[in-house]
Amino acid sequence: MKLNKVYLGNCIDLMKSFPEKSVDLIFADPPFNIGIKYDRYQDNLTYDQYYDWSQLWMEEAYRTLKDKGSIYVAIGDEFAAEINILLKKLGFYYRNWIIWYYTFGQNQRKKFNRSHTHIMYFTKNKENFTFNNDEIRVPSARQLVYNDKRANPKGKVPDDVWQFSRVCGTFKERFKNHPCQMPELLLERIIQVSSNTDDLVLDPFGGTGTTAAVAKKLARHYITMDVSEEYYNLILNRLDSNEKGLKQAVSHNEEVQINLFNV
Ligand SMILES: C[S@@+](CC[C@H](N)C(=O)[O-])C[C@H]1O[C@@H](n2cnc3c(N)ncnc32)[C@H](O)[C@@H]1O
Repeated sequence: MKLNKVYLGNCIDLMKSFPEKSVDLIFADPPFNIGIKYDRYQDNLTYDQYYDWSQLWMEEAYRTLKDKGSIYVAIGDEFAAEINILLKKLGFYYRNWIIWYYTFGQNQRKKFNRSHTHIMYFTKNKENFTFNNDEIRVPSARQLVYNDKRANPKGKVPDDVWQFSRVCGTFKERFKNHPCQMPELLLERIIQVSSNTDDLVLDPFGGTGTTAAVAKKLARHYITMDVSEEYYNLILNRLDSNEKGLKQAVSHNEEVQINLFNV
């Protein structure tokens, strides 16, 4: 297993080759089995096939996660209950069933528009795990609405319904050739609260590489993978261009400092 590496291949086989208890945080956004068109993966298994396949990759997630580690699994309505039960059966401890409200869904004619995804948050140990609550605080109603003197000036730990806009097709950060791309802000919250600098973050379903890109920005180590060569190359390019962006920003800062120094 190499740190800060993108792999091309099947996550179950790849994770089998990783050492036991080596990962601090897993974020997984698997295909939801709802017929989304991916480059290689066929997103239309039978109920039993999808259930068994989910169990296989989650068994490897359990094996590779450290005792103090955390796992977050994003999943649609169709299999949210099954994923929750599988995580419990494997021995993980339930912490939150988070609803990611992505503010607007695709317009429907015969039902309400879907505008949420489930995120299952579990830990391997019941008591002992990383939760950096000060890193992710948000302004509270006590502060903003009631001007209450008892309000914690640092804000409050967010509720379990999270509002982040999805990355729509028209957004400039959207990678056009992938159907599902998570917003960086959502990954920022998860990585900041459930890992520390230099920890290892694993995403078995890389897609456009959002988890790896955010882990890198936050000075965590990352490992990710995808079965599609097209998406694998997309992730490599994304990480590479982020690095160039970062270098530009650093050299700009250096220039600013030099200029200030010269004043
Ligand atoms: C929902 S997308 C992940 C999107 C990602 N969270 C992002 O922000 O871009 C799921 C990805 O899993 C990949 N995939 C499906 N089966 C896989 C497997 N067995 N091993 C590795 N990747 C797989 C698909 O090609 C697809 O890109």
